[in-house]
Amino acid sequence: MTDRAARKHRDFLAIHDFTRAELDALLALSNRMRTGRYTKRPLAGKSLAMIFFKNSTRTRVSFEVGAAQLGATPLFLSPRDIQLGRGEPIADTARVLSRMVDGIMLRTHAHAQVVELAQHADVPVINGLTDLQHPCQILGDLLTINQHLGSYKGKKVAWIGDGNNMANSWLDAAALLGFELALACPDGYEPDAACLARAQKSAKVTLTRDPKEAIEGAHAVNTDVWASMGHEDEQAVRERSFKGFTVDSAMMARAKKNAIFLHCLPAHRGEEVTAEVIDGAQSVVWDEAENRLHVQKAVMAVLMGGEKLVAPAKKK
Ligand code: CP
Ligand code: NVA
Repeated sequence: MTDRAARKHRDFLAIHDFTRAELDALLALSNRMRTGRYTKRPLAGKSLAMIFFKNSTRTRVSFEVGAAQLGATPLFLSPRDIQLGRGEPIADTARVLSRMVDGIMLRTHAHAQVVELAQHADVPVINGLTDLQHPCQILGDLLTINQHLGSYKGKKVAWIGDGNNMANSWLDAAALLGFELALACPDGYEPDAACLARAQKSAKVTLTRDPKEAIEGAHAVNTDVWASMGHEDEQAVRERSFKGFTVDSAMMARAKKNAIFLHCLPAHRGEEVTAEVIDGAQSVVWDEAENRLHVQKAVMAVLMGGEKLVAPAKKK
């Protein structure tokens, strides 16, 4: 057995697995990937196991294509096919995969499962979304903000809708990076209390029931589906609870004039956002989706390929 205390690798389960300086360096590396200035293949001869207990388009394709571009072989493992789906323990799966692959990405329901996988794996584990967190998406969103607004620094991000995995990871990002975050969530759909408390200690973070208040003067407006994966049977109840939370043109008019609109996708036009907004001039959702590829590559290059996180040069 490997001495677990002597493990040299690191995992990415939540935003705060990086320091602020590391996150800035990771975004700079992602930007080099985005602009074609990174051509190395640090994962040559390696492989990435990807386990999906939930559906995925962007996460699967960005990891699969990204791993291949860096030289690795990605393996898509459906729980329908692997023994994990028939009850083989997560710990045993972690031990076995660690003997054969160089990294494991997991998308699942309970956050405790990705934590357990990481505890027993001897290779880096990456959180591809849990009910609690979606840190890879927030990396993509931060890269998109940097791309379109220059920097997340000094910006106000508005979160309109469910206090879900995305909202929690936004809270973690605000806590680490210190930008302003204003959330508007309906009664009973608040974000995780621990994430909220942590963020409110170190950043200007507000939670209201009024979307108009949260969006006022925002530089970036972000929403998500009202019923996340696993909550589909609550759709009708949620449609009633989220009345008034649709991001439409009138709502966007309260944000900064040049505010950008973000959505992790998939989107439900006519529910959390109107077609006019998501398909309109302020929407950057396609860049945001593409940026998943660049940030995923940066995460894999660092965690699995020995790429160093170098602080971006200060602008003169
Ligand atoms: N945004 C996102 O994670 O998309 P997928 O569910 O398609 O991976
Ligand atoms: N909150 C959504 C995000 C999908 C990428 C979900 O968990 O279904």
